Amino acid sequence: MSKQPTNTTTSTSAIERLRDEGLAALRGAASLEELAAAKSAHLGKKSPLALAQRGLGQLGPEERRQLGQAINAARAALEEAEAARRSELEAERDRSVLAAEAVDVTLPPRTPRRGSLHPVHETMDAMVDVFVGLGYRVVTGPEVESDWFNFEALNIPPDHPARSLMDTIYVRGLGSEADAYGVTDLLLRTHTSPVQARTMLAQPPPVYVVVPGRVYRSDVADATHLPAFHQIEGLAIDAALSFADLRGTLAELARNLLGPETRIRMRPHHFRFTEPSCEVDAWHDGRWIELLGAGMVHPNVLAHVGYDSAAVQGFAFGIGVERIAMLRHGITDIRLFVENDLRFLSAF
Ligand code: PHE
Repeated sequence: MSKQPTNTTTSTSAIERLRDEGLAALRGAASLEELAAAKSAHLGKKSPLALAQRGLGQLGPEERRQLGQAINAARAALEEAEAARRSELEAERDRSVLAAEAVDVTLPPRTPRRGSLHPVHETMDAMVDVFVGLGYRVVTGPEVESDWFNFEALNIPPDHPARSLMDTIYVRGLGSEADAYGVTDLLLRTHTSPVQARTMLAQPPPVYVVVPGRVYRSDVADATHLPAFHQIEGLAIDAALSFADLRGTLAELARNLLGPETRIRMRPHHFRFTEPSCEVDAWHDGRWIELLGAGMVHPNVLAHVGYDSAAVQGFAFGIGVERIAMLRHGITDIRLFVENDLRFLSAF
């Protein structure tokens, strides 16, 4: 009694069809996941090919040999196709991982935005540098100052009309505690000149100091005024300093700030704490520009700090920093310095 072939997988051509279906599925797999699914469908334990293999036992020897060979050949072809497709898909995956994780070394770096010195500060530094180069020492003093240092030590007694020239901002409520000099009458300094007296009281002559700092006047802000602005004070006291030394020193400053060809002129003026006094102009852009006030230190000022005006004399000057910064940078409205507009500030 011969066994009967009972289904399609008992013919070689049916095996070849299974093989072709399998090859198409494996080769067409678009991802490693699809490939794994195709492998299990066409080579797995429950695949038609596996079932056909299990059915071989029911066949006669000749049929079994032919069909067995066809099944083995199909299996080998499918395994080969699976391996080939897998290595393709793996290479593709590696490529895309590399591409996704690649670093573009040619990209420009994101540099942090750098700040820069405020133009007023930069101008103040430039001026201080000139005097440091001439051998001056940099000193500072308090912005909340006593009436004595701001006025009296500078030969401006109480009720003197010179006081009304400076619109002083007085500080109330803080005055109960006397400072080192027993003074309780406090104000916001109207100029850096009080540091003249502070410096001389603290040391014997000779004195060569510059004093950068903020000063206050009860002015309303407009294009040329601010209620808080900056000055640089200079003070030189020595055995034989003259007006010519003052002129030479200020000419050096002007050349450094405004260019080596810059000329200056001195006009008579009046300050209570210098005698004689002058205002100094610089020739800039075809006109005379007022730079600063200066003069020979008044004997009364020297006497107030215990200096012997028969043995030493010297000069002092006070420069408005914003004014010079405006000249240097061609700025026409002083309020730009305090508006903190980045479009303005980042131009420097
Ligand atoms: N303190 C004066 C002012 O603020 C400037 C000055 C300083 C003048 C030193 C003479 C000497 O106007």
